[in-house]
Amino acid sequence: MRKEVILITGANGEIGHGLITQIGAEKRARILAMDLKPMDECLEVYCERFILGDILDKMLLGRLMAEYEITTIYHLASILSTKAEYNPETAHEINVEGTINLLRLGVELSQWQGKPVKFIYPSSIAVYGLPDLKTKVSEGKIKEYQWCNPITMYGCNKIYCEHLGRYYSRYYRQLAKDPIKNTIDFRCIRFPGLISADTTPTGGTSDYGPEMLHSAAKGIPYECFVRKDTRIPFMAMPDAIKALQLIEKAPKENFSQLVYNVTSFSPSAEEIEKYVKVAFPKCEITYEIHHSRQAIVDSWPEDVDDSPARKDWGWKPDYKMNRSFNKYLIPAIRARYAQAGCN
Ligand code: SER
Repeated sequence: MRKEVILITGANGEIGHGLITQIGAEKRARILAMDLKPMDECLEVYCERFILGDILDKMLLGRLMAEYEITTIYHLASILSTKAEYNPETAHEINVEGTINLLRLGVELSQWQGKPVKFIYPSSIAVYGLPDLKTKVSEGKIKEYQWCNPITMYGCNKIYCEHLGRYYSRYYRQLAKDPIKNTIDFRCIRFPGLISADTTPTGGTSDYGPEMLHSAAKGIPYECFVRKDTRIPFMAMPDAIKALQLIEKAPKENFSQLVYNVTSFSPSAEEIEKYVKVAFPKCEITYEIHHSRQAIVDSWPEDVDDSPARKDWGWKPDYKMNRSFNKYLIPAIRARYAQAGCN
């Protein structure tokens, strides 16, 4: 008998940490975790198995199919927006080729298993591209189908993979004599910038939020790379994990679309600074604008409309800004760095 598992790629990343800890603590499924980097020790207890491997390795993915009954794929592995700009073609390979490999694996598994594999895919506000600040401010909350003109490789990759998800779940090999019946059940969330108390992001452009907070907690001066008035949506990690679990569990009949915005609060960089300073009054935060990174966040919306997610699968954040900082981020970060001997 092959064991039933949930496959999580990018397991060592920020979302991977949160998701594995949550699913593992609930003991609701066996986790097959995969990442290019060795597994963080604190996650090991929650996983059935960890695979040190590359999503570009088709042989490896094929072997997984033979060994496990994979009911759900959380495809989290990707190169974020800033890092992707330093090597766009490599980012494309990982973000797009890697996703196609997983989508194909999902389709094949669905065939073998006789029922659609759920494919949960995190997309991003990076799929949006507002032409200028005036438009960004005047548009306010934007809907899923508006302003999808990304200016980054990461944003291009994410919007294309959303389309691939739709293609693989609804139209895969549509001209075949015997079109495939069971393909994947693709479900996608466009996340805002995420802030976690347990991890810091690597290579993103919304990183100034979490970096400001973690640096302050560690007593390290922070030079913020965007203007004080920069505003994009953010979310605390527990809400991101909640959204992923809600979209995974929702009945398929409830979905009116495949791709959903979610959000929680939309602070300016200066508003984040204020919260950080109340908690860590001695912290040093200065501003040194990186113009190209600034242009990227200026092209992202200042808010998104997440009403379809609220209506179709009951999305609602537990943590607005005040609660995120005062009930989750600050207490958890204090405890974390105190334990690590940084405070
Ligand atoms: N956090 C991501 C980034 O900055 C956006 O989704 O690239």
